[in-house]
Amino acid sequence: MSTTADDPGSGIRPGMENADFEVGPMRPDPDSVMDSSRRVRIRREGVGQKRFPFPIPNGWFVVEESKELAPGEHKNLYAFGKDLVLFRAESGEARLMDAYCPHLGAHMGAGGKVDGDGLRCPFHGWRFDGDGTCTDIPYAEGKAIPAKAKVRTYPIIERNRMIWAWHHLEEGDPFYDVPDWPEFEDPDWQDYQTLKFDVATIVQEFSEGEFDVQHFKYVHGAPPLPGTDLEVDGTYRRNSNGNFTIENFGLGCTRISIGDAVRIGQSLLPIDEENVSMTWFFTMPETLGDGALKMLVDSFADGISQDIVIWENKRYEPKPLVTAVERNIRTGREWSLQFYSGLEA
Ligand code: FES
Ligand SMILES: [Fe+2]
Repeated sequence: MSTTADDPGSGIRPGMENADFEVGPMRPDPDSVMDSSRRVRIRREGVGQKRFPFPIPNGWFVVEESKELAPGEHKNLYAFGKDLVLFRAESGEARLMDAYCPHLGAHMGAGGKVDGDGLRCPFHGWRFDGDGTCTDIPYAEGKAIPAKAKVRTYPIIERNRMIWAWHHLEEGDPFYDVPDWPEFEDPDWQDYQTLKFDVATIVQEFSEGEFDVQHFKYVHGAPPLPGTDLEVDGTYRRNSNGNFTIENFGLGCTRISIGDAVRIGQSLLPIDEENVSMTWFFTMPETLGDGALKMLVDSFADGISQDIVIWENKRYEPKPLVTAVERNIRTGREWSLQFYSGLEA
C-alpha cells in the first residue's frame, strides 16, 4: 500500500528506512530540535489511546525566562493540561492563574489586563487579586462579592533568572524547593543561552534517560557514565563520575555540571499527559568566551536530536527487562512515584 501525508496507510513508514542501525550512534539532526516538522514519527500502535500510565507530576517547572515578562505584561500559556495566564504584577511579582473567569467563563488572557497585583477580566470587568480572590465587581454597588469568586493560582519562585511555577494535581503545597544555581546570576559566568522546544514524551521518560547509562554509547556515541548507584536523598538524586555530574531536584528539574567549565539547567514543563516543553539553559565562565558556549549549545542540540527520535517513538514498558547493570532504571522509577498524586496502586 502506498502512503501519503493524508493517508498514512499501513506500509513502510517514511523517515527511518535508510538509517544506519549498526551499533550507534543515532544520526543527529540538530535542526529537528527546533523544527518538529523534521522529526521522524513512526509510532502507530495505541495512537489515540492514553500513552503513559501517569498523571501530570507534582513539582516546580520553568514557565518563562524572567527577562521575557515585563511588569504589567501577561502571556497566555497552556501547561499542566490547563489554559493559564502568566503575568507580572505592577509591583514586579510574577503570577500564574487559571485562565477562565468563574463568572461566565471568559478567558482572561483574551483581552484582560493586569491591574495592580491582579488581573481584570475583559468580559464584565471583575478583578482578581494576585491570590486569585475577586476583589472588585465594578457594577455590584457595594454588594458582597460571592465567596466562590476565586481563581486557582500557582505558587511562583523566580530563581536562576527563570520563573518557576509549582504544580500539584491536588493543589497541595510545595514539598521541596527550587535549587539555587549561582552561576546563572554570576557576572564571572556568561549570560546564559537557551534551547527551548516541545517533545511528545513525559518528564519521567526523559528523566529515565539521564540515568540510563548504557544508552550514551548507542544513541550518542559517547562513553557511558560509570554505572554507579544513584545517590538518592528524598526528592533529590545525583550520579557523578567526579567530573560529570547530573542532579535532579524533583522530577523535571536537572542540573548538569562539567567540572568548573559548564553548568546546564533543565526544566521540563508538562504541557499535558503526553507532551513536555523543555527549557535548557547553558552557561560557562566568561574566560572561556561565547564561542565555546555556542559550541556547547550546538553539541547538546545534536545530542538531544538523537534522543528525540527515541522518546517520541518508544512505548512505555511498565515491566522493563532491565539487566543488573541497569539497576538505576528501577531505582529511578521507584523514586519518581513520590511526584504523582492519585496513582492507582
Ligand atoms: S466572565 Fe469574567 S467578569 Fe464576567
Ligand atoms: Fe540521551
